[in-house]
Amino acid sequence: MKRSVFILGSFVVDLTAKASWLPVEGETIKGDYFKIGPGGKGANQAVAAARAGADVQLMTKIGQDLFSPVAIESFTQESLMSDLVLIDQNNPTGIALIMVSESGANQILVVPGASACVTEDDLLRAKKAITKSRIFLTQLEVNIDAVEKAIDVAHANQVEVILNPAPAQPIRDDLYKKINYITPNETETKLLTGYEVTDLDGCHLAANYFFDKGVQNVLITLGRLGVYVNDKEKFSMIPAMPVHVVDTTGAGDAFNGAFAASLDTGKDVFTAALFANVAAGLSVQSFGTAPAMPYRRDIDEALKEWNVRPKLQAFNS
Ligand code: ATP
Ligand code: RIB
Repeated sequence: MKRSVFILGSFVVDLTAKASWLPVEGETIKGDYFKIGPGGKGANQAVAAARAGADVQLMTKIGQDLFSPVAIESFTQESLMSDLVLIDQNNPTGIALIMVSESGANQILVVPGASACVTEDDLLRAKKAITKSRIFLTQLEVNIDAVEKAIDVAHANQVEVILNPAPAQPIRDDLYKKINYITPNETETKLLTGYEVTDLDGCHLAANYFFDKGVQNVLITLGRLGVYVNDKEKFSMIPAMPVHVVDTTGAGDAFNGAFAASLDTGKDVFTAALFANVAAGLSVQSFGTAPAMPYRRDIDEALKEWNVRPKLQAFNS
């Protein structure tokens, strides 16, 4: 079967604790809930894309330790297990320490472990699958040299590239022109462009920064404010779906996975962003990351019920 969305990304085990509020530096507080579950931006986005209906190939790396079964179980359940789930004998499975407050806010410390040890040989094994896919999606939890090389391969083979530059870090300047869609959140946008995206002007400035570097489409996720989308000719500020927030961790992953799945069906950037915005809105209503990703039927139903269409504004009108 043809794999259409190829995702290079991290798997880490999320160790998530919940408390009334988040502790400040030096403070110890009591929490009231703890859960161990599958996470990592790459794996979360793969689950989100698969549940949104895409045929997904995930390339990731885990260790051989007490956390590896969490990955294997999740990948098997989500039909993501393949020979590109690599086992590293020398490095541990990654972990993330996540704290979530009553209001759904979070703090995350991620140690990617084996996920950040993708080698050139690993990439060679993946080359055929990357070139055969329609969409290539990646983030920045995997070692940057591997991300850059994989983008080079995808771009050279006319595979559309989505870069979710998270967690934020500078990328090679010449890479931007190989990116069809960049999907930073507010803090990642600030780090990469220097612009605050607190209003529409800020979003336009940041988008122009990316366009000048060669990116084709800019999507800035704005949390409870929704998402800003700009294809150079038109833009739209798509509002977030009004929902009861339980846990926003992984909202960006829900967005990116669903966005890739929708693009893969041939949708334009605005329609795909609306679909992804609804998927992300659904994901923040439950606790956890990968387990909170919504299924296609729920996204379609919410889209119908909410019935918002992106208002497109042209720059030259
Ligand atoms: P994370 O790092 O926690 O995965 P993020 O910072 O990458 O998330 P955000 O910009 O916070 O991503 O959110 C991504 C998308 O999730 C938003 O564009 C929106 O569609 C949806 N979303 C986030 N917060 C809310 C909310 N409070 N209500 C409804 N939708 C939300
Ligand atoms: O985007 C959320 C993810 O970031 C969590 O699952 C955690 O693993 C961190 O990598």
